[in-house]
Order: sequence, then C-alpha cells, then structure tokens
Amino acid sequence: MLRTVDAAPSHYGPRHTMTEQPKHIALIMDGNGRWAHARGLPRRQGHEHGVEAAARAVQACAERSVKHLTLFAFSHSNWKRPKDEVELLMRLCMQFADDHRQEWVRRSIRLEVIGALDELPRATRLSIERAIAETRGGERMVLTLALGYAGRHDLVGAVRAIAARAQAGLLLPEEIDEQRLRAFMTTGNMPDPDLVIRTGGEKRLSDFLLFECANAELFFADEMWPDFDDALLERALAAFSRRQRRFGRTAEQLAQGA
Ligand code: IPE
Ligand code: IPE
Ligand code: MG
Repeated sequence: MLRTVDAAPSHYGPRHTMTEQPKHIALIMDGNGRWAHARGLPRRQGHEHGVEAAARAVQACAERSVKHLTLFAFSHSNWKRPKDEVELLMRLCMQFADDHRQEWVRRSIRLEVIGALDELPRATRLSIERAIAETRGGERMVLTLALGYAGRHDLVGAVRAIAARAQAGLLLPEEIDEQRLRAFMTTGNMPDPDLVIRTGGEKRLSDFLLFECANAELFFADEMWPDFDDALLERALAAFSRRQRRFGRTAEQLAQGA
C-alpha cells in the first residue's frame, strides 16, 4: 500500500540555519558487549543494562519534547551473531515492549517499527504488535524501533515494490521521484533524522537509515551504550545547536535568510 508522505518539497531543506532542537533523533546504541567485557561480565549483562539505557533515552527525549526518536535495536546483520545472543536480544526486545507499553500509553508515546518485523520470532513480534496497537493514539512522541533493519534492504524492498507497480502498468518511470521512493520504504512515515548519535566509539553508520541520513548531523560518543545518560544527550544536543546546517548553500546566503 502506498504510504502517505509529507507533500512539502524537501530538496532545498529549511530556510534557516536550523540550530534549534532536533525534531528527530536517531540512536545507534552500540557498545553493550564492550561495556560488559570491561567489567568482566558476560555480554548478556551488557545487553540487559543496554535495555535500561534505552528506557532512559526514551524518557529523556520525551521530557525534551523530541517528536521522533528512533532506536537501532537490532540490525539485519545482527542475525549473524551466536544463536544464544540473538535469542537473548529478541527476548529483551519483547520485554522492553511488554514492560513499557502502559507507560507509553500514559505518556502519549506511539510505538512504531522499521525493518523486518515479520522476520522476528513470533513471541517478540506479537509483543511488539500489541504495543504498536495499544499506543496507536500517542501524539507526543513517535518511538520507532529498528528491528532486523538494514538500510540497503529497505531500499531494495522499495525498488522491488515500485518495479512491480510499474510492471503492472500502475506507475510510469517518470513518476518515480524521491517522495515516491520514500513512500515504499518502511521509514516512509517518518521525517528524516536531524541528529544521529552513536555511542561505543565507532564512527560508522552500519547500514542505518542510509537514504534518510543524507543531511543528518552525526554525533559520535566514546561512552558505551549502557552508560548513556542525560548528560550525554545534553552534550549531543549542545553540539547540534552549534552546527550550521547549510543544505548546500553558503553561510552568507543563510545569513540573508535565503
Ligand atoms: C549494541 O551493542 C547492541 C546490538 C548491536 C544489538 P553490541 O552488542 O554491538 O556491543 P559491542 O559493539 O560488541 O561492544
Ligand atoms: C550497530 O551495531 C547495530 C545496532 C546498534 C543495533 P553493531 O555492533 O552491530 O555494528 P558494527 O558491527 O560494529 O558495524
Ligand atoms: Mg557493536
């Protein structure tokens, strides 16, 4: 089904320098394993503390009236991890949804998913689907979990769907544009991230929101994900507020309000 997309042309970006608070923050929650290793603990405990950090991130962003928060919780490549670890991560995703569903309803937080929900184990999928259904009315913040997510897969899926429509005579090649492509991606309903924060010290995107991050500001923190706290978020927001988002224009043009 074609998703509804924001009709506003986005190719020129906003008219001002956009140093205000980001509307959409995306978090690459990396470093659970190293956090545990540094303490002589099994990776499992790193992931368990990681889930608590994720809950803190939701709370901190909701308190700051961030409209969209996207958490990279499990990548498509993470299926390659040892079976035990994958099972644990799936169980933790399920618990995260079960434990926080009611709180999200109370706080008017709507849960959504990008990636491949249908590839998750049934129990995890059902918990997530239940939380999505029960939080549907949430309007204060959209919390999106990236599960089984790969940016390239999302693009390939959209291209396939578009090709099928074109083959069926429902779409002409010249009708395919950015907006149309977006509409077929699992991210089709969300605005592009303004700020991506990655913990864990690595400076890469790991196939996260490749298309959507075209103009995102990137913030890399050396802290491991379980140590995520309000102070780290503040640091990232402060850095964001100092960046000048030029969207291809010159600083002089921006000063003139172009
Ligand atoms: C992030 O922490 C959690 C997931 C990828 C699911 P890692 O498990 O990648 O931790 P490190 O990078 O090995 O420390
Ligand atoms: C990225 O972390 C994925 C998530 C945070 C879910 P990884 O630990 O899987 O990424 P790489 O392997 O270091 O690129
Ligand atoms: Mg990692």
